[in-house]
Amino acid sequence: MLSSKNPTIFFINRIFSLAHVYKSKHTNKFKDKILVNAFFEPSMRTSLSFESAMYRLGGNVITFNKDISTMNKGENIEDTIKTLSKYGDAMVIRHPDKSVIEEAAKYSDIPIINGGTGDREHPTQGLLDLYTIHECFNLHDRLNILFIGDIMSSSAIKSLLDYLSIYPKIKVNMLPYDNRGPSMDMLYDIGMNRRQLPDDIIIYEDRLDIEKYDVIYMSSLQEERINNLLSRAKTDCIIMHPFPRDGEIDRSIDSDPRNKDFEQIKNGVAIRKAILHYIFIDLKEQ
Ligand code: CP
Repeated sequence: MLSSKNPTIFFINRIFSLAHVYKSKHTNKFKDKILVNAFFEPSMRTSLSFESAMYRLGGNVITFNKDISTMNKGENIEDTIKTLSKYGDAMVIRHPDKSVIEEAAKYSDIPIINGGTGDREHPTQGLLDLYTIHECFNLHDRLNILFIGDIMSSSAIKSLLDYLSIYPKIKVNMLPYDNRGPSMDMLYDIGMNRRQLPDDIIIYEDRLDIEKYDVIYMSSLQEERINNLLSRAKTDCIIMHPFPRDGEIDRSIDSDPRNKDFEQIKNGVAIRKAILHYIFIDLKEQ
């Protein structure tokens, strides 16, 4: 699973049905499997939720640590990935350079899962975000989603937008920080997928009607502003954040039932169990 681009409804429905089962069920089905976690950038949620998912499926995990590896003596990335691929049955890689993950898939003997590529893509985060929305709303209904903050650098938002491309009734809106708005490519893709013009996507603070949004997805926002906004937001909207948060969400909002950020983290394990099942069983049967 290398990319969130060009998703299919079949794949998403399959992952969601597996995640639904695995959210409350553990198994020993994969006790002979080993997952290799290879993170070349910091991570807590993605790395540990994959680890938790693998243990909950009965399997084992090997964790690569580049700081104590022979990469410090100059070993190259190709030999490193080739070596790691001899030790397990699937490998999660986070790397700032997307081409490294794409190349890894060519010289690895085992399936590669994209654990996040810098500011480009975060396919498994996008899936768990979509799943969190799906638990609260029908994705085929007319929904209004608002992305707030540093949209340009958020790999989580980019991957979620990739998945949202197959739900044309969902309207995408953005309230970006100054100079942190979507690229022209992102605007073009959104416009093509759901017939929205840039002026219909980008909104500004002075014309923000917060009460019309069903999903408010924050990548960053000062806490005094979010508190202010939430007092006017719909009572049945949901608030999302991919984390880590950096003081953007006041902890008092943690107890607001509209806030789903820790539910996203919980869903991260269920979705990653589903992805591992898909790789170990579904792909083998295709
Ligand atoms: N959301 C997310 O990717 O968190 P980590 O950077 O902790 O993995």
